[in-house]
Amino acid sequence: MKIVVIGGTGLIGSKTVTILRRGGHEVVAASPNTGVNTITGEGLNEAMAGAQVVIDLANSPSFEDKAVLDFFETSGRNLLAAEAAAGVRHHVALSIVGIDRSDNGYFRAKVAQEKLIKASGIPYTVIRSTQFLEFLRGIADSAADGKVVRLPPGLFQPIAADDVAGFVADVALAAPRNGIVEIAGPERAPFNEIVARYLKAVGDPRQVVRDPGARYWGGRVEERSLVPLGEARLGRIGFDEWLRRPRAGA
Ligand SMILES: NC(=O)c1ccc[n+]([C@@H]2O[C@H](COP(=O)([O-])OP(=O)(O)OC[C@H]3O[C@@H](n4cnc5c(N)ncnc54)[C@H](OP(=O)(O)O)[C@@H]3O)[C@@H](O)[C@H]2O)c1
Repeated sequence: MKIVVIGGTGLIGSKTVTILRRGGHEVVAASPNTGVNTITGEGLNEAMAGAQVVIDLANSPSFEDKAVLDFFETSGRNLLAAEAAAGVRHHVALSIVGIDRSDNGYFRAKVAQEKLIKASGIPYTVIRSTQFLEFLRGIADSAADGKVVRLPPGLFQPIAADDVAGFVADVALAAPRNGIVEIAGPERAPFNEIVARYLKAVGDPRQVVRDPGARYWGGRVEERSLVPLGEARLGRIGFDEWLRRPRAGA
């Protein structure tokens, strides 16, 4: 089966490409670096030719509110139009748990991406994931003011990128759900506690302060804003096991 992975050179994309190739599939790792650009349209129609499944794992180079919304809307429109023209039979996209329960610019852009997919008429599966463990450092940096990191105590359930890629590959090989599936890490704990554990484990001296008024990328976070409310598939890699792996603190 020919599968195109948009963002196939990224964190989740490169792992997903490896898993699918191991399974014997013909996989195109598509990204600007390999000559496929969903914003300009470069290489898109050529990449789609003969593809049965397209997995969208692209990410915006900028997280600024307007830039990220423009990215996911333009990329989504161009990609879905190319897929419709090529007769693609399953569109898979990676989204985020709780994007409709907390309000920040990045989440609004992911809501817009999901709306385009639902309206496209192409059979699809949206995978909503919790935050990646690999993203913990970025989260700490975004919430830092000098040596202090302020985070709300809402529940957090991060998942390892290797588990995410495994789920994405499984979903891509299954029939389209025409709906959403949720995935999360195996452990759930307050946001501030997980980030504090992470910083301590990697020797980062910054102090995490529990602050119920602190915002996440500018949005309010309630106790269960960022964790699955219903059924979710859980990854197998726990926090401690992930910390023991090479590059966890990179
Ligand atoms: N971070 C989290 O905790 C989290 C949680 C849930 C869901 N997600 C979602 O997971 C997805 C993948 O994230 P990631 O961290 O794996 O991303 P990443 O490592 O930042 O990789 C982004 C990928 O997008 C590609 N890309 C950028 N601009 C493109 C364009 N114009 N056309 C085609 N490809 C383009 C990049 O290609 P080049 O290498 O060529 O630049 C790269 O392959 C995102 O959609 C994100 O919203 C993230």
